Amino acid sequence: MENKFQNNAIRGPINAFFFKMISGYMDILFGNSKRKLFKNHPETVIEIGAGTGANMRYLKVGTKLIAIEPNIHMHANLKKSAVKYGIHLEIKEVVGESIDLPDNSCDFVVSTLVLCTVSSPMACINQIKRILKPSGVFIFIEHVKARDNSMLAFIQNLIHKPWHWFFEGCHTNRDTKQLLESVGFNKLELETYNSYSPFIPIIPQIRGRAVK
Ligand SMILES: C[S@@+](CC[C@H](N)C(=O)[O-])C[C@H]1O[C@@H](n2cnc3c(N)ncnc32)[C@H](O)[C@@H]1O
Repeated sequence: MENKFQNNAIRGPINAFFFKMISGYMDILFGNSKRKLFKNHPETVIEIGAGTGANMRYLKVGTKLIAIEPNIHMHANLKKSAVKYGIHLEIKEVVGESIDLPDNSCDFVVSTLVLCTVSSPMACINQIKRILKPSGVFIFIEHVKARDNSMLAFIQNLIHKPWHWFFEGCHTNRDTKQLLESVGFNKLELETYNSYSPFIPIIPQIRGRAVK
C-alpha cells in the first residue's frame, strides 16, 4: 500500500532535509505537548512514520525505538538522530498499513504528522490497534481538516494539490479526528486545537492518547 508520491529520488531527499532542518522549530511548536504525551513511556516504543527522528529528543536515553518508516530517504538522518539521543533504533521499511509485528505485542505506539500521509489511515489505525496489547497506549499529534466553510478549509482545499505532491502524499484536509473516533478504542482522549504557525494548512490539529 505504498503511496505513489513516496521514495521519489528528488522529493525524498528534499523532504528528509526539510524535516531535519525544521526539527528545532517543530520542538517550539510541539515540544510541550510531546513532553506531556511521552511522559512515562515504556522501554520500547513503536513509531509510525518516524521521519528523521524528530521525536527522539522526548524519549529516555536507552529507549528501544522500532521505527516504521517506508521512506528510505529518511533513514540516514533517522540513524544519526538515534546516535545523538542515545536511542536503540530498529528501522522497519514497511508501511503503517501492514506492520510486521505480532498482534497484542506493543505497549506504546506513536504517530505525529503521519496519518495525514499514509495511503489508508483507517488501515493504519487498525494496525496500530492490532499490535497494541490490551491497555496499550497510542499517542498522536496530527493536523486535520478545518471546520467546513471556514477560511482555513478554503486554504486547505486550495493548496491541497501542490502540498500533496511536494510533501509526498500529505493530505491537508483529512478528517483524522472522525477516523480515530470511529475505530473503537476503549478510551480516547482527544483535544482539537489550532497551532498557529506559517504553515497555515496545518493549523487545525488534534492531539491525545487512545487506549486499546
Ligand atoms: C510529515 S512526516 C512526519 C515525520 C515525523 N513523524 C515528524 O513528526 O516529524 C510524515 C512521515 O510519514 C512517513 N510515511 C508516509 N507514508 C507512510 C506509511 N504508509 N506508513 C508509515 N509511514 C509513512 C513519511 O515517510 C514521513 O517520514
